[in-house]
Amino acid sequence: MVTFLSSSDILSVSSLHKKELPGFLSKLGEYFLTEFYKTSLGIPSVFTLVYKKDGEIAGFATGVETSRGLLGTFFRENPMGMGSALCFAVLTSPKLIFDIFKTLAYPGFGHDHAELLSISVDSKYQRKGIGKELFEETIKEFKKRKINSFKVSIYDGMSANSFYKKMGCKLDSSFSFMGSKMNYYSFKI
Ligand SMILES: CC(C)(COP(=O)(O)OP(=O)(O)OC[C@H]1O[C@@H](n2cnc3c(N)ncnc32)[C@H](O)[C@@H]1OP(=O)(O)O)[C@@H](O)C(=O)NCCC(=O)NCCS
Repeated sequence: MVTFLSSSDILSVSSLHKKELPGFLSKLGEYFLTEFYKTSLGIPSVFTLVYKKDGEIAGFATGVETSRGLLGTFFRENPMGMGSALCFAVLTSPKLIFDIFKTLAYPGFGHDHAELLSISVDSKYQRKGIGKELFEETIKEFKKRKINSFKVSIYDGMSANSFYKKMGCKLDSSFSFMGSKMNYYSFKI
C-alpha cells in the first residue's frame, strides 16, 4: 500500500535511506536524515511516498516540484533543526565540511525542473515490483501537480540505472559530481 509520509514513518524512512542509498545525505547520518524528512513535511513542493508491507516500510520515493535552491528551502523552513543536525554531522566527522561545499555544486540546485530525488526499496523486498509501483505513484503525484516531466540523477555504474531505463527514463546527460560520474535521466509524463 502506498501512502504519503507521516511523522510516525520518519525514523524508518531515514534508516532505510541510510541503508540503501549511498549518496551524500546518507553520509550526513541518520540524525540529519531524520531532520531532513521531518522538515520536508512542512514544504508543500516536496512529497515522499512510502510503501508499507505488513505495517513495515518496504520502500519510499521523494519528489520535488523544483530542485532549484532546494537546500536553502529546507534550511529556511527549519533553520534550527537542519542547522543543528548539520553541525552534529560535521562535529562527528569534520571532513564532511568539504563534501558539504562540493554538494552546493550539484547542477540540479540551479535548474528549475521537477526531480525524483530518491527512490529506495529495502533489499529484502527488492525485485518484487515495489520500486515500479512507487515510480508509477510518483508519476501520478507529479501529474496531479501539473508537472509534465521530471528528472532523476544517479551515479553511473549503479545497477538502478537499468531500473530507470526499464521505467522509461531517457538518458539526458552525464556530469561529474564530487569526483564521480553521474547520469541525468528525464521522464516525460
Ligand atoms: C532501484 C530500486 C528502487 C528498484 O526497486 P525494485 O522494487 O527492486 O524494482 P522492481 O521489482 O519494481 O523492478 C521493476 C523493473 O526494473 C527491473 N530492475 C529493478 N532493479 C534492477 C536492477 N538493479 N538492475 C536491472 N533491472 C532492475 C526489474 O527487473 C523490473 O523489470 P520488469 O518490469 O521487466 O520485471 C531498488 O533496487 C533499490 O532500492 N535499490 C537501492 C537504492 C537505489 O539504488 N536507488 C536508486 C537511486 S536513488
